[in-house]
Amino acid sequence: MKTDKTFTLRNDETGEEFKLPVLDGIEGPSVIDVRKLYGETGYFTFDPSYTSTASCKSRLTFIDGDEGVLMHRGYTIEELTENSTFLEVAYLLLEGDLPNKKQYDEFEHHITYHTLVHEQLHKFFQGFRRDAHPMAVMCGVVAALSSFYHDSLDIWDPKQREISAHRLIAKIPTLAAMAHKYALGQPFVYPRNDLNYAENFLHMCFAVPAEPYHVSPVLARAMDKILILHADHEQNASTSTVRLAGSSQANPFACISSGITSLWGPAHGGANQAVLAMLREIGSVDRIPEFIEKAKDKDDPFRLMGFGHRVYKNYDPRAGVLKASCDEVLDELGVENEPLLAIARELEKAALADDYFVERKLFPNVDFYSGIILKAMGFPEEMFTVLFAVGRTVGWVAQWKEMIEEPTLRIGRPRQLYTGPAKRDYVPIDKR
Ligand code: CMC
Repeated sequence: MKTDKTFTLRNDETGEEFKLPVLDGIEGPSVIDVRKLYGETGYFTFDPSYTSTASCKSRLTFIDGDEGVLMHRGYTIEELTENSTFLEVAYLLLEGDLPNKKQYDEFEHHITYHTLVHEQLHKFFQGFRRDAHPMAVMCGVVAALSSFYHDSLDIWDPKQREISAHRLIAKIPTLAAMAHKYALGQPFVYPRNDLNYAENFLHMCFAVPAEPYHVSPVLARAMDKILILHADHEQNASTSTVRLAGSSQANPFACISSGITSLWGPAHGGANQAVLAMLREIGSVDRIPEFIEKAKDKDDPFRLMGFGHRVYKNYDPRAGVLKASCDEVLDELGVENEPLLAIARELEKAALADDYFVERKLFPNVDFYSGIILKAMGFPEEMFTVLFAVGRTVGWVAQWKEMIEEPTLRIGRPRQLYTGPAKRDYVPIDKR
């Protein structure tokens, strides 16, 4: 929001001063509006990795990294995971408010009746090797949705935008479950309309045609919570990727596929898979000090996976909810002694007591405990990041929609500080 406040920038060479407007948000730090800076001064700002740049306005999600607070549309993540279903949170992110009963029923109906994917899409899976990483499969099949649903590709038509949003949220669990089944060599399981979103997802992942499958309500609730915790996280790498792709007016299926590719990396959503690999490598509690030392050693590329965050300089509130959920899920599954959980708990304690982690304010993030729950539920490690993508799709879609509905939408086009050779004469190949 516009304020009367300004920020003065002084060129020490010429003594010239430039006043830049300051904008206030509802919460969080104010921003210096540099949009006219280049036109008026001939200078760009330099902020690789965006440590000091607000790339857009958004009404969806607020993070107070110092206090460890995450809110969607003003509601804390703790309240939402405690009281809401994933679809309620999806509605909240898309529409701005929690739904009343009628709105919820309608929304659930729309999502439920879009869960089937075009039968021909099944054939795409056969093109992948069985041992392909399911994230590779997801990048391909989600982008392929744009070749099936031509009737919802006009991004300027609000009705088509809504249908695409519903299709993406509805079909992503179906595609994720298909990627899982394909890797196992088992038949795809069709969605069931009598089950809720999380139940249906577990059913499609774990049912086999040979016998009935009972969805545990405790596991379905835990899955629902995991999806809520991953639903949105303001302008992270994958969301910014979706926004940048969407700013060129690309169709939403293509944009969400670009978000999936960005999520895959171990510094982002791929960390949940990397955490389990790390815990297995540590192997026993007595080797924790050795790995803490490795993580601190600047000559060693090893980092504590599931630790640290660009924005949180406090406990990630999502990690707190998941840590509590671990016991519930392991109890339900009758797992009395999960050695990786014991290592994770001790590793957390050791890191939080170590000056290196304390000084840098490195705490467990959302990926630290989620893998232990997902492993206990029966998901292979390669599926962990796919599950992150299932939850995050609603955030990507809501952020994409918010951007398209912004009247001032323009293509995103960062600039650079060129450090290559200055202009030079071309040398023919026989003279090089
Ligand atoms: N282990 C050891 N040292 C670390 C770690 C870690 N996990 N994370 C940060 N540091 C150190 C880093 O070396 C640097 O030290 P120094 O100041 O001496 O150079 C300092 O802490 C600041 O770190 P940074 O790399 O400048 O921070 P960043 O904001 O660029 O990176 C991060 C954030 C999440 C990529 C990073 O903390 C990390 O690599 N964590 C492990 C991967 C991970 O868990 N990612 C999931 C993030 S949360 C979910 C999501 O977004 O998908």
